[in-house]
Amino acid sequence: MKIAFFDSGIGGLAVLHHAMKVLPQEQFIFFADEDHVPYGVKPREQVMEFVGEAFDFLVGKGVKAIVTACNTATSVAVKEMRDRYDIPIIGMEPAAKRALDLDGEHRVLVVATPITVSGQKMKVLIEHVDREHLVDLLPLPRLVEFAERAEFRSPEVSDYLQRQMASYDFSRYSALVLGCTHFNYFKDTFREILPDNVHFVDGNEGTVRELIRQLRKRDALEEQSFSVEYFYSGRKVDDPVELERLQSYLARLDDMDAIR
Ligand code: DGL
Repeated sequence: MKIAFFDSGIGGLAVLHHAMKVLPQEQFIFFADEDHVPYGVKPREQVMEFVGEAFDFLVGKGVKAIVTACNTATSVAVKEMRDRYDIPIIGMEPAAKRALDLDGEHRVLVVATPITVSGQKMKVLIEHVDREHLVDLLPLPRLVEFAERAEFRSPEVSDYLQRQMASYDFSRYSALVLGCTHFNYFKDTFREILPDNVHFVDGNEGTVRELIRQLRKRDALEEQSFSVEYFYSGRKVDDPVELERLQSYLARLDDMDAIR
């Protein structure tokens, strides 16, 4: 049986990219809701509908688990999806706890989409983990557009990030939490803005660890010949130009992995 990775767009490839390395004998389906991306600036009810349609499709494919490789979709819909379906559904939340566990004295900046930043789930997370009030939240919605059109390095991207981050005194920070999977593509530009004392923290490895834990619990890890199928909003991607596009995102993620 296959494991599904779901995102509004190509951000979720960052989680799949890691899963492909640590689970080389599994078969994957990657679903990018390209018809509806971006989610993070839309009304929550609408995002709930999009996620519901995607999950119906993936469950219809007979997958053994769905990784919601999207902080925004997790914030809006993971609870409802878990109530609706009987398979393991792994969610993703900005890794603020991990960032605080790594340092605990300096400040932490969480960047995410507007929906994730303003959601109830974020509020509950902060109440639980941020006892010393060290966490700041910053929405960066435009990075999703930039990522979708593969504009990773440009004066516009640099200006946008510089402007959004100008008011922070980063000498007081230890971590930048990438709270949206689309943001993994911009580590080089972030790195140019941030001083060396600020480290990246993301939830990609933790999410895949949780996937493995849940599959192991159900004795559902398999040894089969590796494969990945890609879908854009329910349409199988078999056009070589589009497959090439997806490969170039994965290659970009290889480069970003080296930046800490
Ligand atoms: N990649 C998604 C996330 O992790 C959301 C991007 C969007 O569609 O706004 O939050």
